[in-house]
Amino acid sequence: MTEAPGDGTRADGSRADGTRADGGGSHGAGDSDDGVPEIAVIEGDGIGREVVPAAVKVLDAVGDYEFTAAAAGDAVLDETGEALPVETYDLAAAADATLFGAAGESAADVILPLREAVGSFVNVRPARAYPGVDALRPEMDLVFLRENTEGVYAGHEDRLADDVSTLTRVVTESASRRLGAFACEYVAERDRDGFTVVHKANVMRETDGRFRDAVLAEAEAAGVDADTALMDAFATRVCLDPDRFDVIVCPNLAGDVLSDLAAGLVGGLGLLPSANLGPERGLFEPVHGTAPDIAGEGVANPSATILSAAMLVESLGDADAAARIRTAVEEVLSDGPRTPDLGGAATTADVTDAVLARL
Ligand code: NAI
Ligand code: MG
Repeated sequence: MTEAPGDGTRADGSRADGTRADGGGSHGAGDSDDGVPEIAVIEGDGIGREVVPAAVKVLDAVGDYEFTAAAAGDAVLDETGEALPVETYDLAAAADATLFGAAGESAADVILPLREAVGSFVNVRPARAYPGVDALRPEMDLVFLRENTEGVYAGHEDRLADDVSTLTRVVTESASRRLGAFACEYVAERDRDGFTVVHKANVMRETDGRFRDAVLAEAEAAGVDADTALMDAFATRVCLDPDRFDVIVCPNLAGDVLSDLAAGLVGGLGLLPSANLGPERGLFEPVHGTAPDIAGEGVANPSATILSAAMLVESLGDADAAARIRTAVEEVLSDGPRTPDLGGAATTADVTDAVLARL
């Protein structure tokens, strides 16, 4: 399985043209005959097997969905020699939406092709603090829009000699423009003030320079307020003065790293959901990984995955269900019960039951 070629061409030869999957209300080709949306459920490894079932219970409580389970990750790799069986890839490519947990050491062989399977060009990662949750930055409310097809994750690594390894970084005008156009729509639809393009074009003049300029050109064309920040300085400023930022548009690797940084500022990885959006469908997953240090103990915080499920139902056009889920999670985060990562002693099941009771 290879990573997306980066020009928007999907595995099936069609093109991701930059139209949105998150709110149009139309279902993709996976709709079953009865009109019930089909959701692919891929738990993966570690706490994925604990938090995904929690989110499925919540989805089941807010709507009528058909769930189809599929395997991916280290466990199925051990069993079959493949971290991402072709059936799983095909299921994600055809389902109306996919809910994914996390994969362990095989993560790159699972999540990169799965993002390609759904034609995703952007990873939306809201990072906000919640009342009642101890946070270094309790006022923080940011959204990271991470480029999802290229940059250093395009995967062209080589070993040229015993002493030399190389990585080719791919940045295209089309993918950068498409992300910029998405960011403009996002800002307008969500009543955000504008966005900041995070880059390192003072050093990577060609690749990050192209990325920055292409995204800014879309902002100018759309009349959206946009500014820029150097990636390293941004890392400091977002800690000291997060209010200064609103929506952050960043290259692939920067978005990965900086959103984990933001998780640390709002109370931890157990809180951050994400949506990998393509033109017709999306894949929804927590920002966190398999958390091997707590896997199997039943104490993982399911909030990130349940909030990812809220983004999923929103992508299927059910804004009411998304709002109900978010409100229930917010209430439970505020009043408890809380899992140990947030200073509580509750289990995943306790928190899930509390969310279900608030729906
Ligand atoms: P991680 O996100 O799994 O864990 C980092 C820390 O955050 C750990 O202390 C963990 O206990 C805590 N944490 C994460 N999610 C939590 C939750 N829901 N509730 C409570 N605590 C939580 O990152 P790490 O340890 O770097 O990676 C572990 C494995 O996950 C690796 O094998 C890595 O490859 C994989 N991974 C997979 C991803 C994916 O499939 N998309 C993404 C990131 C990592
Ligand atoms: Mg990450």
